[in-house]
Amino acid sequence: MAVLCIYLLVRDAVADTCSTGPSPLSPPDMYFSRFLCGYSSGVNYMTTSDARLAMTYPISALMGSVSADYGGVLAFAMSVYNCAQEYGTAHGGIAAKRVVSLDLPRAQTSDPSMRIVQFTACCADDDSFSMYSVQNVRFRTANGTELGIGAEFCRHPQPWVRMPEGYTFAGLVTQFPEDRANGPDWIHRLAFIAVRGEQLPDCSSQQGQGG
Ligand SMILES: *[C@@H]1O[C@H](CO)[C@@H](O)[C@H](O)[C@H]1NC(C)=O
Repeated sequence: MAVLCIYLLVRDAVADTCSTGPSPLSPPDMYFSRFLCGYSSGVNYMTTSDARLAMTYPISALMGSVSADYGGVLAFAMSVYNCAQEYGTAHGGIAAKRVVSLDLPRAQTSDPSMRIVQFTACCADDDSFSMYSVQNVRFRTANGTELGIGAEFCRHPQPWVRMPEGYTFAGLVTQFPEDRANGPDWIHRLAFIAVRGEQLPDCSSQQGQGG
């Protein structure tokens, strides 16, 4: 536990997880995919991670929005945990006109054929403005159903990444360029977090709250 608390303190500069809340998973039980889109070198990126919440609470939904002004980039995303009791940090930041929500418990728990087994992203044009940014996030379930959030337009589809056996999708890690941190920016790079085992809540008894 002490090791985990130090890990969390270093990672997120927060102490609250160490003293309160449910017992978090230990880091080896988490999976981080490689980053999709953006550039692997030559740009200093700032990182936003759902790791702290992903290892503590089951994910409920993924919210997102697209900015059409920039050729359809994923402007904003936010993971929702624990039946909407906890919200992750905002990924991206362009003020978005319309936020949509992808309901994950319904997709993953109620039916084994709807468990997320693969994920990928689409990347925008590779130019100095679009910078190969993320356009959308896509999931494929056990029976081949595709779910997604973000732009319908897809300039550069990326290969599907297979979820490790026994892991459940749990959140995102995203990046945008440091030199654009003073203004709102969209999501340039994206990686997937998964946790070992079942981490999905049954929120059916809580449905109808908030709306
Ligand atoms: C996958 O499963 C869902 C839920 O059971 C069902 O609605 C859908 O038609 C299935 N898709 C395929 C391609 O079998």
